[in-house]
Amino acid sequence: MDVCTTVHALRARLDEPRRARQTLGFVPTMGALHEGHLSLVRAARAECDVVAASIFVNPLQFGPGEDFAAYPRDLENDLARYEAAGVDVAFTPDVATFTPADRLTTVHVAGLTERLEGAARPGHFDGVTTIVAKLFTAVQPERAYFGAKDYQQLVVIRRMVADLDMPVAVVACPTVREPDGIALSSRNAYLTPEQREQARTLSRALFAARDRWDGDADSARALLRRIMGAAPGVRLDYAEVCDPQTLEPLEGVVGGPARALVAAHVGGTRLIDNLRLDPCGAGTQ
Ligand code: PAJ
Repeated sequence: MDVCTTVHALRARLDEPRRARQTLGFVPTMGALHEGHLSLVRAARAECDVVAASIFVNPLQFGPGEDFAAYPRDLENDLARYEAAGVDVAFTPDVATFTPADRLTTVHVAGLTERLEGAARPGHFDGVTTIVAKLFTAVQPERAYFGAKDYQQLVVIRRMVADLDMPVAVVACPTVREPDGIALSSRNAYLTPEQREQARTLSRALFAARDRWDGDADSARALLRRIMGAAPGVRLDYAEVCDPQTLEPLEGVVGGPARALVAAHVGGTRLIDNLRLDPCGAGTQ
């Protein structure tokens, strides 16, 4: 595995496979890697000739008072995990160079970014889309892999790619969970054993809503709020049932699929999760 720390070095490394018309897959992450991230690498490995993956804790997507400074960082270990999972090229740009203080450009996706995470974390998605656009420009992948764990991010990135005619296929991968249902997240590292138990409430509520899904968005939303509202140690931020594409809240009985999305604080840690509500029960995540 080669490690590139500058856009220049990355381009030089990817020049030859590009000229040989090899398919390039790309996985962007902020490191603190777990099986969720590695599932994206494996999907890219299975579908592409060359796999590039980045590690960049992006300051633009953290609000004031959020955990940018405390975000878990372990570059050496992350690089070993990338290599073991089959990454060919790791891109680890430096914060000061990749996000210079005199930067004037922001990529903003309107509307979709105002709800849910966008309402709770103003400016967050501008930080995500700006950095993902920069990463796409640096890597120029044919395919880019994102987790359904961050469902709104996935929808926002798909929209940016469509609106700007970016020549990249966005591939969505299912959420990887612990056996007890909790979604893997780098932020789970902040939880005490007691909080880890309380954090199960998010997936417990989502699976209950999916199991009882009869097409009624109002009763699914009420169930999510009832379960999460009653759980000790869990402070509900939002629990919504939305259209999977527009993320508009759904009301009453709906004909097609829906997405349940939740966010809550457990201790000082903010966690998110989501699940597809399928008319046939199970379905994909
Ligand atoms: P990060 O939180 O490190 O996540 C990187 C990718 O891993 C995202 O596509 C995310 O959805 C996916 N992922 C995280 N947990 C997962 C899980 N349990 N199962 C499946 N996939 C999972 O998301 C970001 O970084 C950043 O916003 C980024 C896109 C890198 C831009 O800075």
